[in-house]
Parts: sequence; structure tokens; C-alpha cells
Amino acid sequence: MAFLSDTLARVNPSPTIAVTNKARELAAAGRDIIGLGAGEPDFDTPQNIKDAAKAAIDAGRTKYTAVDGIPELKAAIVAKFKRENGLEYTAAQITVGSGGKQVLYNALVATLNPGDEVIIPAPYWVSYPDMVLLAGGTPVFVEGPMQTGYKITAEQLEAAITPRTKWLIFNSPSNPSGAGYSAAELKALTDVLLRHPQVWVMTDDMYEHLAFGDFKFATPAAVEPGLYDRTLTCNGVSKAYAMTGWRIGYAGGPEVLIKAIAKVQSQSTSNPCSISQYAAVEALNGPQDYIATSRAAFERRRNLVVAALNECPGIRCPMPEGAFYVYPSIAGCIGKTSAGGVKIADDEAFAAALLEETGVAVVFGAAFGLSPNFRISYATSDAALSEACARIKRFCEALR
Ligand SMILES: Cc1ncc(COP(=O)(O)O)c(C=O)c1O
Repeated sequence: MAFLSDTLARVNPSPTIAVTNKARELAAAGRDIIGLGAGEPDFDTPQNIKDAAKAAIDAGRTKYTAVDGIPELKAAIVAKFKRENGLEYTAAQITVGSGGKQVLYNALVATLNPGDEVIIPAPYWVSYPDMVLLAGGTPVFVEGPMQTGYKITAEQLEAAITPRTKWLIFNSPSNPSGAGYSAAELKALTDVLLRHPQVWVMTDDMYEHLAFGDFKFATPAAVEPGLYDRTLTCNGVSKAYAMTGWRIGYAGGPEVLIKAIAKVQSQSTSNPCSISQYAAVEALNGPQDYIATSRAAFERRRNLVVAALNECPGIRCPMPEGAFYVYPSIAGCIGKTSAGGVKIADDEAFAAALLEETGVAVVFGAAFGLSPNFRISYATSDAALSEACARIKRFCEALR
């Protein structure tokens, strides 16, 4: 009898964590490494949020709480959905988990049966396919190529839907491409879903606040109220308030699903950290200036990185609408050989040679289901970004 489960064998370890670890190892060995792999804001959590956490500790808010969130946080989330998204939820329609990741995972565990299909537009956040597999479902990929701004079309969505389709996972602005669907682009997709009542929408709105230029964030249940009864609107404080380590994510949706998610959570992790929940109340209810400040910084860095990458021979980098990632194509580098003698057969070879020869750590596109590309997280200093892009340029210029 095998000790490890068959389910585990189907799951891949996170390639983004692998890149971060490799970069860390090289740095520890004395190499000059610029890590562009990690998907978290480089800013500190705002002081008012830290103060709220300290106050919670001092007030003894250090015990178990209700499994899926304290009433104060649920009320803050209800208010947030109404204020920012025009969505009306009651507290009974809100769940809070240990990060957006847990909420998404619990929702899949609570709903998937063997053979159930989940449509995942590619390039996708690395965790979606593996979460679906862990929950016993079948991921179905739909490619959004660079030519369509890394977005899928209504026709592609229609063609991917079968009687076994249970969910569409929707993520805009996207990790890894930064692509954002306008309300009109999203409406084209929700029109398709209206014709298929068995399909639910799991929208991952984690990068809602990182929307640049003219691009306006839109979320499915607001764009198409007809889908409200089968949409789980997921969000969190990690990216919006530089709170990745605090582990608070949340969602609004139909009560039957919210109860099912709580059931999974009650038998696994129980409540998210009590102190972090009080911090999240302050994040959502307190001053919101951090959001605009970080948005401005990220937009400036996006412009810097896109301009610099488009000067690298063999690389093409479209301008993303949001998040803090770019997803350039390296089609023009494939088949060449690096200065260090590495044949660039695919994007994994490109990323490995780039790290080895220049010390710049990026994540290869195959990890996100669309190649040949790589992802840069530009959530780091302007100086580090400029230096990294200069190294990438030299690397590309040396390809033969
Ligand atoms: C698209 C997307 N969804 C969810 C998450 C997870 O967020 P959290 O830190 O709240 O678990 C991430 C984090 O990288 C992400 O990029």
C-alpha cells in the first residue's frame, strides 16, 4: 500500500515558490541576485492596521472566533462590497478564510465531484489547476493569447462549456499577465454563462485596486446581476493593503455555498487568526490612502518595466491593465543560444539561463500554462527593476 495518496501525485509543487527558493539559495551563496518572482507588495503594512492588531492583542482578542469570521469583519466586508462593487450581501453571505487561497480552495472542495470540470483561462495563477485536482475535479484550460491581450473570448468560453462544467474561475486583473477585462469584455463572457445555468463563477478579485490608466475594474455579479445567485466573489486584504503575511481572504456568495465553505473550514483550520481579523476590520473600515499610493507606485513601475523590456531583442511585452505583473513573450529568443552556451529551447531554459548568467530570477511561462513567456513581478524597487531590465537586455543581445 502506497503511503502517499494518489491525489497528491497529481499535484505539482508551486513553481513560483521554487524560483524564490532557488534565488534565495544563490543569494545565500554570495551571488548578486535580483528576485522578480515573488507575488507580494514590497511595501510595509500601513501603521493604522498594525496598531489595530496590537490593540486586539492588548484587548485579549486572542481566542477562537466564529469559524468563518467575526461579526465586525463580516460587517466591514458587507460595507466594502456595497461601497466599492455595488454588490449587496448580508453577513450570512460572507465567509472569511486564512487568505484568499483558502477561500478558493474550500469552495472547490465543497462543490467538486469526480468528473466535474472547471474552466481556467490560461495563463492562470499557478494554484488554480492544482487546487481543482486536489478537490477531485478536472481543470479545462482555455488559452488567452498575447494577440487578444491574454484574454479569452466569448466564443472560446462557449466552446469549452460541457454539461459537466461546474465553475469558471475568473481573475481580472490577472496574475500572471496583468490583463484586465473591461466591463464590456466581461459582459460578453457573462452573456455566455447566462445560457448555461449549471456553470458557476468563482471570481478572484484579488488585484481589484491595482487598475491603471483608463482601465476600470469590473466584477461578474455587478456586470451581470443575473449571475448573482451563482457567483462567488472572492477578494482579500493581502495585495490591497500589503498584508500577505496576515492571511485574511474573504468572499461573498449564495448562502448555501457560504455554509458549505464554513463546514469544510470547521473541520480543517477553524477560524482565521483572530488578531489578523481585527487588523482586516481596520484595513477595510479605516483610511484608504494606502491604496492610491501603492497604485501610483505600481503604475509607474509597470511603465518603466514595459518600456525597458520592449527594448530587448526577441522580447515583446504588451502593456497590462493592472496587478503587478508583466508577461512578455520570448518567441523571438527561442532556438537561440545564450552567451553561457545554453540552448534556449523553451521558456524554462530561458529562465534558468537568465538566472544562472545574470542573477535575475523570473518565473517561466509554462508554469502559468502559456508559453513561451516569463512573468516578472514588479513589486520591487525602481532601482532593482532598472538594473534587472538592463541585465535582461544584455542577456538577449548576447543570444546567437
Ligand atoms: C490571483 C491570486 N489569487 C489569490 C492569491 C492568494 O492571496 P492570499 O494571500 O489572500 O491567499 C494570489 C496570491 O498570489 C493571487 O495572485
